[in-house]
Amino acid sequence: MPVSPRLTVKSQLSEEQLLAHIDLAALPQHIAIIMDGNGRWARRRHLPRIAGHRAGIRAVRQAIEACARLGVPYLTLYAFSVENWKRPHAEVELLMGLLREYLKKEIAELNRQRIRLGVIGRIGELPLPVQRDLQTALEKTRRNTGLRLTLALNYGSRAELLDAVRSLLEERAGNGSLPLDEETFRQHLYTRDLPDPDLVVRTSGEMRLSNFLLWQAAYAELWITNTLWPDFTQCDLFQAILDYQKRERRYGGLGMARS
Ligand code: FPP
Repeated sequence: MPVSPRLTVKSQLSEEQLLAHIDLAALPQHIAIIMDGNGRWARRRHLPRIAGHRAGIRAVRQAIEACARLGVPYLTLYAFSVENWKRPHAEVELLMGLLREYLKKEIAELNRQRIRLGVIGRIGELPLPVQRDLQTALEKTRRNTGLRLTLALNYGSRAELLDAVRSLLEERAGNGSLPLDEETFRQHLYTRDLPDPDLVVRTSGEMRLSNFLLWQAAYAELWITNTLWPDFTQCDLFQAILDYQKRERRYGGLGMARS
C-alpha cells in the first residue's frame, strides 16, 4: 500500500541524533496530542483493552519527558473525550481508575520536573472521586513554573464552543458593550490561558481531529504517525518537532517563497 507523504514512519536515528538536529530557537510553544491506538495495541497482544491504556501511561511519560527536556512550554493531552462515555461501562471505570492512579502516583515526579498540571473539559461531570484527585493534583503542582501539562478530560470541542457562547452571552447580559470579536471569544474558551497549539500530533494513523481543539488548532501543523500510542517514544516527538520545523506556516498569507 503506498504511504501518504504526510504520514511519517519511524525514524532510524537515535534520540541524541534527532535532538541534535532540533532548532531550540524555533520550538513549537504548544504541542497537543491525540493519543490513539491503545485498544489496537492490546488486541495485537491478545490482552484486554485496559492493558493498552495502562501501557499508554508509559507513552504519556515519554511525551512529557521529551517536552521537559527541550523546554517546550505547553503540552496538552487528549485523555478522555465527551464521546468516550459511549464505551462499555467497565472500560470507562477502568480508565477513570487509571487516571486516579496516575494522579496519585505521579505528583511527586511532576513536582520534581517542576510541571504544572491543568485540565480542560466538563470537569464537573466527572465522577466525584476523580474531581477530588484532580483538585489535589492541581493544587499540589500550582506553583511549578516548568512545562504546563494540560489534560483534556470529558473534553469535546463542540461542547467547549457551546459553553463559551453561553458564558459570553451571560457576560454580555451584564455588559452590553462587550465586543463580539475573536479575542473576547477566546477569553471564554477552556483554554483561555493557553496559547493556540502550533503542532497537533495524532498516533495510530487516523486522519481526524476527533472534536479536539477545533477553534484553537485552526492554524496548527498536523503530524500523524502510524505508531500506536503505547509505542510512542521521545524519538517520535523529536521527529514530529523536526518535521514541524521544516514546514512553512503561512496563516493564509503567501509565505516567504511566494511573496
Ligand atoms: C485512545 O485509544 C485512548 C484513549 C481513549 C484513552 C487515553 C488514555 C491513556 C493514554 C491513559 C490514561 C492517560 C492519562 C493522562 C493518565 P483507543 O482506546 O481509542 O484505541 P483504539 O482506537 O485502538 O481502540
